[in-house]
Amino acid sequence: MRTAATPEELRREIAALPSPLVLVPTMGALHQGHLDLMHRAREIAGPQGTVAASIFVNPIQFDRAGDLAAYPQPLEQDLEKCRAAGVDLVFTPAADRMYFPDRSITIIENLLSRHLCGATRPGHFDGVCTVVMKLFNLFRPDAAVFGEKDYQQLAIICRMVRDLDVPVEIVGYPTVREPDGLAMSSRNARLAPDHRADAPRIRRALEGARSLLPLGERSAVPFLAAARKHLEESPFLKVDYLELVDAETLQPVARIQKPAVLATAAFYGEVRLIDNILLLP
Ligand code: PAF
Repeated sequence: MRTAATPEELRREIAALPSPLVLVPTMGALHQGHLDLMHRAREIAGPQGTVAASIFVNPIQFDRAGDLAAYPQPLEQDLEKCRAAGVDLVFTPAADRMYFPDRSITIIENLLSRHLCGATRPGHFDGVCTVVMKLFNLFRPDAAVFGEKDYQQLAIICRMVRDLDVPVEIVGYPTVREPDGLAMSSRNARLAPDHRADAPRIRRALEGARSLLPLGERSAVPFLAAARKHLEESPFLKVDYLELVDAETLQPVARIQKPAVLATAAFYGEVRLIDNILLLP
């Protein structure tokens, strides 16, 4: 497995590697969810193609300094996991090799980021779009794989690629879960034991709401009420948001007439977890 720590090294390495190149952008602290994205990337690249990953904790997408400071960065273990997953090239830049001190250009998304995480994490998706665009320019991948747990992120990246004519295929991959249903996340490791034991309720809350669909319910209110009730029964959890949005525009809907997404973010202490579920009419 090859590694590159600077954009210059990365360009040299990429020049020596075969196409197609499929990229898995990550912030490290890799778990099975990331490894599944890498295996999907291999399926797309084929045995002769190149699977590349980036490990970069992108400072400009964090809205809370404490969250950035606490973000785990086990680089050596991450590299070992990439190697074992058959990744060909890993890019591990330091922040000062990604951003110039007088950086003055940022990609701003101002429609799909109005709700959900975008509403409670100001500037987050501008930071995501900016770093993902930089990674696309550096790697020039044929395809890139992103997890559906970050549903809003995936939708915004698809929109960015569409609106800016970026020549890359975006591939979404279903959320990978722990056996008890909790969506895998690098943040799960920071949960206190009683919070970790309680956290599968997030998935149960969303699934419980979805069970209203076969009963013929289509109005948003009962879905939101059912999910909120289950979330708020927790002695630990604090709801950051719970919204029902159109699956494509990410704007709130009053009724489920097209595919919709019920999405939530919740705090356990300082740890913020997200999850979502697709609701089909
Ligand atoms: O999903 C993530 O890990 C990050 O938001 C990403 C896409 C790697 C950009 O920093």
